[in-house]
Amino acid sequence: MNKTKSRKILLLPGDGIGPEVVREVKKVIEWFNKNKSLDFSLEEELIGGASIDANKIPITDEVFYKSLESDAVILGACGGPKWDNLEFSKKPERALLKLRKELKLFANLRPAICFKQLVDSSTLKPEVVSGLDIMIVRELTGGIYFGEPRGIEPIENNERKGINTHSYTTGEIQRIARVAFDLAKKRKNKVTSCEKSNVMEAGVLWREEVQALKDKEYQKIELHHMLADNCAMQLLRNPKQFDVILADNLFGDMLSDEAAMLTGSLGLLPSASLGSKDKNGKIRSLYEPIHGSAPDIAGKNIANPIATILSLSMALRYSLNLDKEASLLDTAVQKVLDDGLRTKDIMSNGKKEVSTTDMGDAIISKLK
Ligand code: IPM
Ligand code: MG
Repeated sequence: MNKTKSRKILLLPGDGIGPEVVREVKKVIEWFNKNKSLDFSLEEELIGGASIDANKIPITDEVFYKSLESDAVILGACGGPKWDNLEFSKKPERALLKLRKELKLFANLRPAICFKQLVDSSTLKPEVVSGLDIMIVRELTGGIYFGEPRGIEPIENNERKGINTHSYTTGEIQRIARVAFDLAKKRKNKVTSCEKSNVMEAGVLWREEVQALKDKEYQKIELHHMLADNCAMQLLRNPKQFDVILADNLFGDMLSDEAAMLTGSLGLLPSASLGSKDKNGKIRSLYEPIHGSAPDIAGKNIANPIATILSLSMALRYSLNLDKEASLLDTAVQKVLDDGLRTKDIMSNGKKEVSTTDMGDAIISKLK
């Protein structure tokens, strides 16, 4: 067991079930520190609605700078009905968007894997989803989420106009396409790139640049272009045709929710948001479960902590260079599912329903 140098992990539990699921991750990290001689230093800060309640803003400068300096940030969830009526720029979600934009986390990796133990939880037929393993690569710092001009402005006749701008540059398209191609190389060598080149110029550019990069640097990759609406349909019709799906910020947002739901278990899916390597080879990163803050079940100790625990596993793999520990954690999760333990969201006949904390404890017991 090698003693690694101390690395900083920042926990941002946030709102709703965020604190409950992040608490389980904290236990796992502490287990690794104690039993695998790792010495992660752990800090915990407020974000989203929790930060609004304490500090009147969704993320303070102090927390923002801590995120910049951490080796990995693990976030629970942001938002909830309590803060729904706030002015747009003050909403909890702005914290997340600020972190993505200012840490330059342009690459969002969202695996949609159908766990064999949960094939029956999907609303789709078992034969359609069993063995499903898709990686969605979503561009995260461009497109309509951040484009200018934007806003709501008065126009004639007492009406108003809402404006958002969708645009992408060659550089933005190339760097996200490169992430998709590199990932595909380690998988089945297949990328499906989605846009709406039939109605949007930015989609035409997207298609051309992705194709040009493939022709130049990734000849061995099988590249398909697909209109985003067709992709949404194909995901339901025959999801196993996909390996890596590449999409812009907005289409990626929608397609990843759809793909996640194919697996029947939103509570199991992690995600990673990554920036480029800096001069020292360090990659800025943020890890979070795909599910949101689920305010309806918050505080009841019934939320599923697996997506957040698997987000830690992605952090071990992509930011902390600890592949072995990541695999150990992935295997522990599989074993607990094999044992038939289920939180309420994935409960089915004949299985044993457990709480959030019990699930965390069970996973830790399988690490041993
Ligand atoms: C996601 C979420 C966010 C998004 C919200 C919470 C701002 O839906 O991470 O997919 O739209 O990107
Ligand atoms: Mg979303």
